[in-house]
Amino acid sequence: MDKVKEEIKNPAVSDSCCGSGSSEPCCGGGESAVSASVDGDVRDTVQEYYAKAAKASCGCGDQSSLYYNEEMLNSLPDDVATFSLGCGNPIRAAEMKAGETVLDLGSGGGLDCFFAEKEVGKTGYVIGIDMTPEMLLRSTESAKKMGLDNVDFRKGFLEEMPVEDNTVDVVISNCVINLSPDKSLVFDEIFRVLKPGGRIAVSDIVVNGEIPEHILKLKDSWSSCAAGSLTIEDFTQGLLDAGLEEVVIAAKDANGDLLEKNPENELFSAIITAKKPI
Ligand SMILES: C[S@@+](CC[C@H](N)C(=O)[O-])C[C@H]1O[C@@H](n2cnc3c(N)ncnc32)[C@H](O)[C@@H]1O
Repeated sequence: MDKVKEEIKNPAVSDSCCGSGSSEPCCGGGESAVSASVDGDVRDTVQEYYAKAAKASCGCGDQSSLYYNEEMLNSLPDDVATFSLGCGNPIRAAEMKAGETVLDLGSGGGLDCFFAEKEVGKTGYVIGIDMTPEMLLRSTESAKKMGLDNVDFRKGFLEEMPVEDNTVDVVISNCVINLSPDKSLVFDEIFRVLKPGGRIAVSDIVVNGEIPEHILKLKDSWSSCAAGSLTIEDFTQGLLDAGLEEVVIAAKDANGDLLEKNPENELFSAIITAKKPI
């Protein structure tokens, strides 16, 4: 446990984009849950890591072709479609309707926001929040180039969202909640911003059992979406404690199809859905 805390406080940050500079994905493959307090250290380290990823032009770490079909990807400019640092496809599970208001937590380069905009249409509204200025620069420039005035990128933390109470129909997120040092604050904020009857559709890394020790020792193990991952039980309980209901956490394959059974004793990508009571 001490080693884990040390890693959270002092994770090494690589000079190359997305950590290793290899073809390894940015997210996935790590270890799990420790409750760190929000003292700034974790978020500063994570922000530094994703600032580098945002500025990278090499495209390494891009996950888009794993999780979105060709038709979806072809509907967006190349530089947007090839910039995904997620671990799944929350769009499919969100089942958005025209006119809805969507909130994307940790919107990165904006890919899921732009897909969401296509689902909710011009009568809908999409808000993306991210704490990393370099990511916001990327996403806002893309929105401007596409002429989208109903996609609104805001600087902010998941733990203190710059969003009004009871205004959001659906919260989506792609591989970000695991990065937060205080998930219970994030769950409380999700509950606060959702309209009564609103829902979440989140893709994230979770662990079934224990995070293997060797993963906790990896370089950038928190920033690469591993060491901060919650167990299925803690994720479920955290959402229930915040007041959400009908929580379902299910493993899925790369196409977003749900697996019959969650893998055991390893980290995996899951789709998490829940609702705020009416
Ligand atoms: C793994 S990337 C995922 C980006 C995007 N969702 C995607 O699928 O490409 C994580 C993003 O979340 C942002 N982020 C991480 N922790 C955050 C926090 N506590 N508050 C706000 N943004 C955060 C990072 O700046 C980064 O852009």
